[in-house]
Amino acid sequence: MSFEKYENVLLEEPEEGIAVLTVNRPKALNALNLATLQDIGDALREVKGRDDIRVLIVTGAGPKSFVAGADIKEMQNDNVTEALKLSKLAHSSFGEIEHLPQFVIAAVNGYALGGGCELASSCDMRIGSTTAKVGQPETGLGIIPGFGGTQRLTRLVGRDKAKEMIATCDMIDAKEAYRIGLFDEIAEPDELMDKAKDIAHKVMKNAPLSVARAKYSVDRGADLPLDVAVDLESQIWAEMFGTEDQKEGMAGFVEKRPKHFTGK
Ligand code: CAA
Repeated sequence: MSFEKYENVLLEEPEEGIAVLTVNRPKALNALNLATLQDIGDALREVKGRDDIRVLIVTGAGPKSFVAGADIKEMQNDNVTEALKLSKLAHSSFGEIEHLPQFVIAAVNGYALGGGCELASSCDMRIGSTTAKVGQPETGLGIIPGFGGTQRLTRLVGRDKAKEMIATCDMIDAKEAYRIGLFDEIAEPDELMDKAKDIAHKVMKNAPLSVARAKYSVDRGADLPLDVAVDLESQIWAEMFGTEDQKEGMAGFVEKRPKHFTGK
C-alpha cells in the first residue's frame, strides 16, 4: 500500500520496518522537476518522524530508470536565479537523507544520470542492478552537476575519477560503478529489491539509536579535521552508555542470549 499524497513519488507503508520511496515519473524516466524534488523532500521529512520505519529504500519507477537527471525540458529556459532556486531545493531535499535517523539504501534499477547519480550518492549505500548505467552528463549540456555531483561523488570515488566522469560525460556500467566504489553491491534486476531488503534486515538487527548515531558520526566527521572528528566520535560513543540499548546489547553478549533492542 502507498500514500497517494505525493504526486511524483510513492511512499509505501513499511513492511517489517522497511519502507520504499519510489520516484514516480516513468514517462520522463523519473526526471527530477521542481515538483518531484519538493515531493522527495516532503516524503523524507515524513519518514524522519516515523518510528515504524527503520530502513528506507529509494528507487525509481519502471524497469529502465532510477532517475535520468534533472528535468531538462523544465529547466532549459531557466535564468540564473531560477537555476539557483532549483539547485538549492535539490540540496535541501537530498540533504534530508543525511539528516534521517534511518539507514537509506539506493536500489539503482537503471539509468542514474546527473541528478539521479546525485540522489543515489546522497544515500547511505548503493546497490546497482546489473543493467544500471551511471553518469554525470552535465558538461555536455553546458552546465555542471548542481545537485551534489561535484561534492558527494568526489567524496565517494575520489577527485580524479569524479572529474573524469564529469569532464567526459561517460556513462559507466554497474561493474565499473562497483569497481570505483560508487556501487557497494550489484544484483540482477529481479534480485535487486531482495538484496536491498536482506541488507535492511541485517541493519535492523542492531540497536536503532546506535545505527542513527553512527551514521551521524560518519557523515559529520567526514567534513571535519581528524582531531575534531575523533572528538565528535568520543562524545557520541560515550553518550551511548546512557542508553538502555547499550545495557541490553552488552548484557545479551555476556549472558549469551539474543538481544532485544528498543531504540531507547
Ligand atoms: N529531462 C527531461 N526529460 C527526460 C530526461 C530528462 N533528464 N531524460 C529522459 N527524459 C524523457 C525524454 O525526453 C523522453 O520523453 P518523450 O518521450 O516525451 O520524448 C522520455 O523521457 C524517454 O527518454 P528517451 O526517449 O530519451 O529514452 P532513451 O532510452 O532513448 O534514452 C536516456 C534514455 C539515455 C536516459 C536519455 O533519455 C537521456 O540521455 N536523458 C537525459 C540524461 C541527462 O542528460 N541527464 C542529466 C540532466 S542535467 C542534470 O541532472 C543537472 C544536475 O546537475 C542535477
